[in-house]
Amino acid sequence: MSFSPVVSLSRLRSSLLFFCVVFVWLPAVVHCQLYSPLDPIFYFCSRWFSSSVVKDNTLFINGGIETFYHSGITSGTILGINTYMIKVSMVTSWDWKTNITITDEDKTTANPKTGTYPPSLVRGTMFHGPTNVQEVFAFGGTTFMGNTSFLGYVAPDASTYPLWSYTYDPSVQDPNKWNQYDVGQPWKPNHGAAAEAVDQSLGFYLNGQIDKGTSAATQNLGNETTIHLDGMLIIDLISQTSRNISTANITGGGPRVGGGMEYIAPVGKKGILVALGGQLSPKLNLTSNSTNGNLLGFDVVDVFDINSYLENTGGNGTWYSQSTSGDIPQPRIDFCTVSISAPDNSSHHIYLYGGRDPVKSVEYDDVYILTLPAFNWTQVNFGQSPRWGHDCHLVGNRQMLTVGGNTTNEQCDWEIKGVAILDMSTITWGSVYNAFAPEYLVPTPVVNWLGGSPSGGATVKTPVVGYNQTGLAEVFNTTRLQPSSSPTPSPTPTATNSHKSHAGAIAGGVVGGVAALAILAGLLYWLRARKRKNMVPRELDGAEKAELQQPDAQNAHKGHYELPAATKEPAELSEQHGASEAPRETFTEAAELPGTNTVPGGKHGVPMIRTPSTEEPHFPFARDAALR
Ligand SMILES: *[C@@H]1O[C@H](CO)[C@@H](O)[C@H](O)[C@H]1NC(C)=O
Ligand SMILES: *[C@@H]1O[C@H](CO)[C@@H](O)[C@H](O)[C@H]1NC(C)=O
Ligand SMILES: *[C@@H]1O[C@H](CO)[C@@H](O)[C@H](O)[C@H]1NC(C)=O
Ligand SMILES: *[C@@H]1O[C@H](CO)[C@@H](O)[C@H](O)[C@H]1NC(C)=O
Ligand SMILES: *[C@@H]1O[C@H](CO)[C@@H](O)[C@H](O)[C@H]1NC(C)=O
Ligand SMILES: *[C@@H]1O[C@H](CO)[C@@H](O)[C@H](O)[C@H]1NC(C)=O
Ligand SMILES: *[C@@H]1O[C@H](CO)[C@@H](O)[C@H](O)[C@H]1NC(C)=O
Ligand SMILES: *[C@@H]1O[C@H](CO)[C@@H](O)[C@H](O)[C@H]1NC(C)=O
Ligand SMILES: *[C@@H]1O[C@H](CO)[C@@H](O)[C@H](O)[C@H]1NC(C)=O
Ligand SMILES: *[C@@H]1O[C@H](CO)[C@@H](O)[C@H](O)[C@H]1NC(C)=O
Ligand SMILES: *[C@@H]1O[C@H](CO)[C@@H](O)[C@H](O)[C@H]1NC(C)=O
Ligand SMILES: *[C@@H]1O[C@H](CO)[C@@H](O)[C@H](O)[C@H]1NC(C)=O
Repeated sequence: MSFSPVVSLSRLRSSLLFFCVVFVWLPAVVHCQLYSPLDPIFYFCSRWFSSSVVKDNTLFINGGIETFYHSGITSGTILGINTYMIKVSMVTSWDWKTNITITDEDKTTANPKTGTYPPSLVRGTMFHGPTNVQEVFAFGGTTFMGNTSFLGYVAPDASTYPLWSYTYDPSVQDPNKWNQYDVGQPWKPNHGAAAEAVDQSLGFYLNGQIDKGTSAATQNLGNETTIHLDGMLIIDLISQTSRNISTANITGGGPRVGGGMEYIAPVGKKGILVALGGQLSPKLNLTSNSTNGNLLGFDVVDVFDINSYLENTGGNGTWYSQSTSGDIPQPRIDFCTVSISAPDNSSHHIYLYGGRDPVKSVEYDDVYILTLPAFNWTQVNFGQSPRWGHDCHLVGNRQMLTVGGNTTNEQCDWEIKGVAILDMSTITWGSVYNAFAPEYLVPTPVVNWLGGSPSGGATVKTPVVGYNQTGLAEVFNTTRLQPSSSPTPSPTPTATNSHKSHAGAIAGGVVGGVAALAILAGLLYWLRARKRKNMVPRELDGAEKAELQQPDAQNAHKGHYELPAATKEPAELSEQHGASEAPRETFTEAAELPGTNTVPGGKHGVPMIRTPSTEEPHFPFARDAALR
């Protein structure tokens, strides 16, 4: 079956073409995007610079630049924005080629208190937020200015509300799903490095930039101009307040963009952050563009001792610069990282995947592991399908879930659902997510030099090049009592949320004359919505701000254990984040993965080259299958 030609009903207005389309095949289906721009799942071609988070067995994907596959209307693709909140169920195992469940929800209801629509930005981040609330957070980002004619385009808002919460509690309906918060900072940053101490309800946002898309006040900046921001924001996700601490002591002497940061919970009294990679603005000139800043090498990483800040929340905390060794990756930006600890916590591993070098125009498809406290790199995978501007998450005990990304040389992403899975123990790429995968084991190429066994007992316990500062040695000498590497979805499936299913949206379409009416209604609604959206956002007065922050923040977080604002003493690690009690499996058993997890010709446990051709389903078939 081939992808049928698309017939447009519209001779009314050319812009209609782009939000209401009739597909003719058997059976005939009308797909109407009544008042929302292109559906990001149905028309998916590629998506990058979106932000995502996994919570309660759901992957949430927000914003991002998206190219829409739209043969029949235009030749090629449409460059635009993902204006939906996308949800991928992680409750049960899936294979993205056959039985993945992806739903989405538009954002066409404004926040009643401010009249602002939930934004769909790029290069922001998402935070998990407190475990006991059915909310995720979107933070930072910038308006994509690459196609201001796109129907979903909304002119840059003020920087006042960089933090939004989205509730997925099915009992909460629009307009109360989204809430916005002023965290008390002058700018809404983007392209910074984010990490989250979920067990302490703290979000971290390191440096970043502002640019043309940041706010009305920055609209006159040049298309390529970015202004890098100093400081690291520490955001209390319970009280929605933040502090901006100095990062003057971080490697490179200036703020960075496009780097990575990971939270390693078991190390130090309150965990550490490891910041790595990124691009500096040219020295002494904070007005830069993405082709002339120096890239930071991975031969030095920066470690932040969270306790040093929590002990004195009026200070700047302590950063340590630590040299690394081994297979040091090429400098790059827009890669992704996840971290995980050996079962006995004797070593911690930061996985780095992909990215690009904008100075040399090189894109990467490789996976490296930075092992701590050895601070030694091991390259474990080398592929031929570069990807950048993607996200990744630890899911199902030991799998790295990758989300989106730009594949540079292809017209559309060959991962047509925008996700893929890497088994972090066997270093095997595949399309299958295993909700009940065995416990993480340290991969063989790392064990080979680290000593001990796949389940721990590392013999290299200090940095190969030695600690550069004794303070860092002391931090690593302290281990938290109930460590956890990072939040993993609970193995017990939780109640499924009532998603607005994508299939429902299609079925909601109608045929013939009814469709024309729907189109007209949609057009009217859309014109109204668009008019409202295009209004320059007004600044709130003091009373409104107080109203927004006070009752709502508290209602939304009823039942929260509220921390004293002054000390922000984090709550003790909860049971959910405690060390796994699961019985250890042997490495051989652990390698018994579903057959589909192995690329044809590959061997379990052996790093292999992943190429699109070994996995790519052919477009029309996969798309049609998804629509049935
Ligand atoms: C989806 O497919 C995977 C892999 O084939 C399988 O393990 C899983 O049980 C399937 N899930 C459902 C809900 O059918
Ligand atoms: C920008 O968006 C408009 C409206 O959706 C579309 O017609 C146009 O093709 C897009 N531009 C590009 C470069 O894709
Ligand atoms: C954080 O503080 C620095 C000054 O140290 C400032 O330049 C930066 O804009 C602030 N960050 C944000 C997000 O406002
Ligand atoms: C900035 O980009 C817009 C849209 O791509 C283009 O129309 C405009 O000419 C560009 N401005 C400059 C100064 O390059
Ligand atoms: C930078 O490090 C020096 C020496 O350790 C310390 O005295 C200073 O307070 C630090 N500055 C900041 C902003 O953290
Ligand atoms: C910084 O760079 C921009 C663009 O290259 C230039 O216009 C500006 O004069 C420079 N500023 C300083 C202080 O050197
Ligand atoms: C960006 O910097 C490079 C190298 O300095 C320069 O050649 C290029 O013209 C700059 N681009 C813009 C848009 O300023
Ligand atoms: C934090 O760093 C800033 C910038 O270097 C400095 O002005 C401030 O005094 C520092 N705060 C403390 C408490 O040391
Ligand atoms: C560091 O890692 C590299 C790459 O895996 C390995 O060859 C080397 O032996 C390791 N260094 C030490 C001191 O173990
Ligand atoms: C990758 O990004 C470039 C812009 O940097 C865009 O033109 C291209 O369409 C994107 N390609 C894919 C496959 O995402
Ligand atoms: C760390 O120590 C090593 C070995 O003495 C040295 O080569 C390296 O330059 C130091 N790195 C930093 C960031 O001070
Ligand atoms: C690590 O802790 C032990 C016991 O608390 C202590 O004896 C040792 O000196 C510490 N080592 C470092 C490098 O701080």
